[in-house]
Amino acid sequence: MPIDIVSSVLFDGPDSVPGVDLAIKYGPVVLTVAALKYYFGGSTNTWERDMHGKVFIMTGATSGVGAYLAYYLASKGAQLILLVRSTEDQWIIDYVEDLRDKTSNFMIYAEQCDLNSLHSIRLFATKWLDNKPARRLDGVLCLASESIPRGKSRQVTTDGVEKQIGVNYLGHYHLLTLLQPSLQVQPPDRDVRVAVATCALQALAKLDHDDLFWLNKRYPSNAPWKVYGQSKLLLGLFTQEYQRRLNQYERPDKAPCGVRINLVNPGIMRTPSTRRFLSMGSIVGLVIYLLLFPIWWIFFKNSIQGSQSFIFALCAPVFINLDGGQLIQECKILSKKRSEYQDEELQKDLFDETAKIIEKLEKQSAIERKKQELENLNNLPLKEKLKRQAQEEKKRANLHEKPESPEELDAKFNTLKKSLGIPESNPNDLEIPSFAPTKLEEELLKTAPSKTTGQSTKSTSQKKRNKRKT
Ligand SMILES: NC(=O)c1ccc[n+]([C@@H]2O[C@H](COP(=O)([O-])OP(=O)(O)OC[C@H]3O[C@@H](n4cnc5c(N)ncnc54)[C@H](OP(=O)(O)O)[C@@H]3O)[C@@H](O)[C@H]2O)c1
Repeated sequence: MPIDIVSSVLFDGPDSVPGVDLAIKYGPVVLTVAALKYYFGGSTNTWERDMHGKVFIMTGATSGVGAYLAYYLASKGAQLILLVRSTEDQWIIDYVEDLRDKTSNFMIYAEQCDLNSLHSIRLFATKWLDNKPARRLDGVLCLASESIPRGKSRQVTTDGVEKQIGVNYLGHYHLLTLLQPSLQVQPPDRDVRVAVATCALQALAKLDHDDLFWLNKRYPSNAPWKVYGQSKLLLGLFTQEYQRRLNQYERPDKAPCGVRINLVNPGIMRTPSTRRFLSMGSIVGLVIYLLLFPIWWIFFKNSIQGSQSFIFALCAPVFINLDGGQLIQECKILSKKRSEYQDEELQKDLFDETAKIIEKLEKQSAIERKKQELENLNNLPLKEKLKRQAQEEKKRANLHEKPESPEELDAKFNTLKKSLGIPESNPNDLEIPSFAPTKLEEELLKTAPSKTTGQSTKSTSQKKRNKRKT
């Protein structure tokens, strides 16, 4: 067929080929579109790595580039722990089932870890760190993000922080710092990689040292990308200090740190967050977005194209010999970064300041939760209230359940003492005896005055012991 066309053009002239007019008219346009699409599709990763049996924790694995990366890793045989807002959501249950079926990999699990709530992150991390022996971990992919469209008012997380800063920065900071022991405990020969998604919008961010976390500043509804960019810049600076702290940790076996954390910019993609951002979260905006779809189709990557730099960050052997904190884009390591990336002091201060603000927010939220619990309890009918209190008492006394607070620990300790025949104590009472009390001490305990006079009983018992010693 191509030979026929070429011979017709040569012997009978171009007009003898059917459709040549159309080809001459539209050919350049089609070729230009194809060239642009190819160019904006970005680079393709060429590295592979055996992922079989490797364990990855992922945030943002339910949508966009994260959904493709979950599919990619699962189809290569990796075990995945997907951190999602809620595990009770039927959509999530179906999503995990679907992923398992498509990849024939049943080692895909969803765990609740809502980045909107510091408490939820702590619950997940505590559960993960509670595993004995420590669980295998080959990497963490931080892909979740919140990008608020233009024109919307300030939105906040459960802890009351602006949502983009809260989810993108504080959420990932909290998760990674809590998981640090789990990363450090991995065998020295394990090549552990943490990839954190960043964005070109960080270049627009301006660090306001008086209000880094946008706590007091007026929220810029007309330019929310400033806050989004700031959240990504803070995240980028955090990775530099985090890597340094990982390197500083001295392992019991004195082996060097095998964990590397890198930043990855996937480029602009046609994902739900971009759609929401461009359509400004409105129906009219969505219609305009759909009408302009050919433009997005040419200039924006799809999730597979966007995932290439992440796969590069996970697979390329070059990272074994490099320190972490690299910025990766188009499957290449960028050498040019914002000046703040060279400022170690700033990164250290930022790290410490963030730890302080998280501690403060967590305390505030814990008080709020307790208040809410009490309020809910008080609003219950008396019968239900008594039932709940009895259940709570039973739980507190159950020695097989881990205590969640010092008060619960005291309650369990008292139950244990009761079962051993040792008298119960209360917070203001006697010191905890290391041995079963002697007869004389038992007598004293029986006659011990109430809570308010506990101090005097303690001193009497101490005096007796001291006397015996002398
Ligand atoms: N799209 C782009 O053009 C672009 C450009 C540069 C960088 N990036 C970065 O690349 C990463 C992936 O972007 P994308 O566009 O693929 O994302 P996306 O499709 O918008 O997905 C965002 C993901 O984050 C999750 N998420 C949001 N809030 C969460 C929360 N509170 N707790 C737990 N998970 C939460 C979402 O879960 P649900 O499914 O529950 O909502 C979803 O899985 C992001 O970090 C983004 O900043 C994107």
